[in-house]
Amino acid sequence: MPPRKIIIDTDPGQDDAVAILLALSSPEDMDVLGITAVAGNVPLELTQKNARIVCELAGKTDVPVFAGCDRPLGRQLVTAEHVHGKTGLDGPSLPDPTMPLQDQHAVDFVIETLRREDAETVTLCVLGPLTNIATVFEKAPDVIERVQQIVLMGGAYFEVGNITPTAEFNIYVDPEAAEITFKSGVDIVVMPLDVTHKALVTQPRNDAFRDLGTPSGIAVAQMTDFFERFDKEKYGSNGAPLHDPCVTAYLIAPELFSGRRINVEIETRSDLTRGMTVADWWGVTDRPANATFIGDLDADGFFALLVERIGRL
Ligand code: RIB
Ligand code: CA
Repeated sequence: MPPRKIIIDTDPGQDDAVAILLALSSPEDMDVLGITAVAGNVPLELTQKNARIVCELAGKTDVPVFAGCDRPLGRQLVTAEHVHGKTGLDGPSLPDPTMPLQDQHAVDFVIETLRREDAETVTLCVLGPLTNIATVFEKAPDVIERVQQIVLMGGAYFEVGNITPTAEFNIYVDPEAAEITFKSGVDIVVMPLDVTHKALVTQPRNDAFRDLGTPSGIAVAQMTDFFERFDKEKYGSNGAPLHDPCVTAYLIAPELFSGRRINVEIETRSDLTRGMTVADWWGVTDRPANATFIGDLDADGFFALLVERIGRL
């Protein structure tokens, strides 16, 4: 089977970085047409810089990186330096990028790519707030039906929220963008906190990254060492949850994951529950299914894949 053509939309973020490294180390599975940065974990000028830092860490400076939206569709930007540090990639000390940022706006790159490539052959891997994706759909509705699939990290049901009691960060930052995306009709696979909180970088798993002895392996160990503080303190968890790599791992080994096709709606009106993913896991409404909501994974298989692939870089 030929590799899937993908665009990675991202707000690096240490876990975004690991997801990108997994994609860039798997050319037999994924052809990364471009990486589009969005404001999220940290402001846009840092997420676009961090995306280039990660490409250089992987030795893949031929992958074009684009800057996208610097704020949500209709709200103030909320960032997460308390989790990711002020640079967004705290942990390892990585050099500033020398590869160029593309001049073209990320939204125009996605539109142009979807119009150029054969219909339903490009998958959007979304690792941050959905602002860029929703802007694409609003600016060029003709490309919506040309998207093969959206695989995104976001939302929560049984796990409830990580930025408020009811909302996961990516959806919380731009709930209107999430609503546009979930109502678009595109085939969506959701990696919520329900599954990503089962992908914990325990000490042995962190050691396996470090023991690779490669720049990428060591950097991944240092990144997860840094950003596990937030989740250990909040949840008492046994390591950092690798949220975003669940997205790119799904494209390589979907059999590692399990979930249900259900209806997911986004709360956009209430201040109290803004950004909540109202997931009809038990089918108690007659609202049509619009997403595959992943609830579980084979964590050992997931980490074995990550170590093997990142060990290639
Ligand atoms: O809630 C976790 C998500 O928010 C991850 O994508 C992380 O990188 C942050 O963007
Ligand atoms: Ca992210």
